[in-house]
Amino acid sequence: MSQTILIETNEDLKKIFSLNLNTFVGTDVILRQSADDCVALLRILPQIALIITKAQVAGDTTALKIHHFLKNESLSIPMIVLGNCPEISSEVLCLQEPVSWETLIKQAAQHLGVTVQDAINKIKPDYLPVGVHYFYDIQKTPCDVYIRIKKGPNEYQFVKRINSKDVFDKDVIQKYEDQGLKEFYIPKDYIQYFTTFVTSNLIERLEREDLTLEERILTTANGHEIVRESIQTMGFEDSTVQLADASITSMVKSIKNSPQISELLKFLFSNKVAYAYQHCHMLALMSHYVLSKQSWYKADHLEILSFVSFFSDVTLKSNLQMQISSMRELAESNLNDAERTAVMNHAKDAVDLVSQHPDVDDYIKTVLIQSHGKLNGIGFEEDPSEELHPLSKVFIISDTFVKILLNPAKPSTKKDILPILYARFTQPSYQKIIKALEQKFE
Ligand SMILES: [Fe+2]
Repeated sequence: MSQTILIETNEDLKKIFSLNLNTFVGTDVILRQSADDCVALLRILPQIALIITKAQVAGDTTALKIHHFLKNESLSIPMIVLGNCPEISSEVLCLQEPVSWETLIKQAAQHLGVTVQDAINKIKPDYLPVGVHYFYDIQKTPCDVYIRIKKGPNEYQFVKRINSKDVFDKDVIQKYEDQGLKEFYIPKDYIQYFTTFVTSNLIERLEREDLTLEERILTTANGHEIVRESIQTMGFEDSTVQLADASITSMVKSIKNSPQISELLKFLFSNKVAYAYQHCHMLALMSHYVLSKQSWYKADHLEILSFVSFFSDVTLKSNLQMQISSMRELAESNLNDAERTAVMNHAKDAVDLVSQHPDVDDYIKTVLIQSHGKLNGIGFEEDPSEELHPLSKVFIISDTFVKILLNPAKPSTKKDILPILYARFTQPSYQKIIKALEQKFE
């Protein structure tokens, strides 16, 4: 479902607009108070589909400020202004107040490419957006593919760009991306068909034996991204379970088959791999390295920790949320209340979610719920206790190590990271695990 930011000061109008936008235009409404609030959200959620804002809030030039931000960041998010804003009225739709909810949903529908039928039939978009990355590992699509272009200041048109029979390669998709395209559009009736097609193609590719390490990592990263998105929007469906399994197997394969850790790390850093997968793969890799130095190591431990790495942050939407690894970092972050709560509960939420996976056992659930040192999966423990499962301890040390490594503001060499870990994790068994990291990476 698309997301719309709404800034409206009148409490009654806020409720009426939100309810009707959701019911008739099928968009999720995120309420914001001011231009600053809205900009802060856009920095972490640039895929917002529409912004509806009062021209001014408490004497502040709200609409103007947001418009400047969008221009400076080259974000082409449409805006509807409630009230007069002469400075931008040639570029943005400004509705004379009072604005009725019928007028607003009609305009919002037009901006989002939704056909307004009647009040009884719930309005659904005719086209649904899919991220460009859905096209990375396919050479044809089962249906026509469209892009959304601006027709006039307040109107959008969907133009067919790929026919259902066309064969294309990654360069074609790359060209669209280079021009700033982030999403293609699929006719709504074909969306399920399309995602099933992409999923089965990805699984087939992940199961191939002849992929180079680079191809394997890029395809697995794509699988991870699609699993995260489909879980967040539709829950854990059968096809998602299959794609997740194929991706984890592929990830484990690349970890086992890469003789040189330092080479693999270099590759993960150098390529255009999303933060979520960089973290997931490096975490599985580090866990494997640490595990292999433990006397009690068994082969299936790598499978467990890889599974947990794959799903540990699956409910989190932004990189900012995923980068947090302590209560202090959470307190100092710019996240709003809902985003903070999601971070606080993400280990517990992940357990609830993966419980729907048919092969999830108590081992996996235990390590996942303890992944930030808490027995109940809520919050972060600064100096976790000896009570935790040994696999959880390996996971926690590896996770903290990788998060520091991936943070450009923090130390980037093992020599500088290890003292931070020794100082934070004071219990003897944790100190022993950290010691394993002292050995030279081949
Ligand atoms: Fe986490």
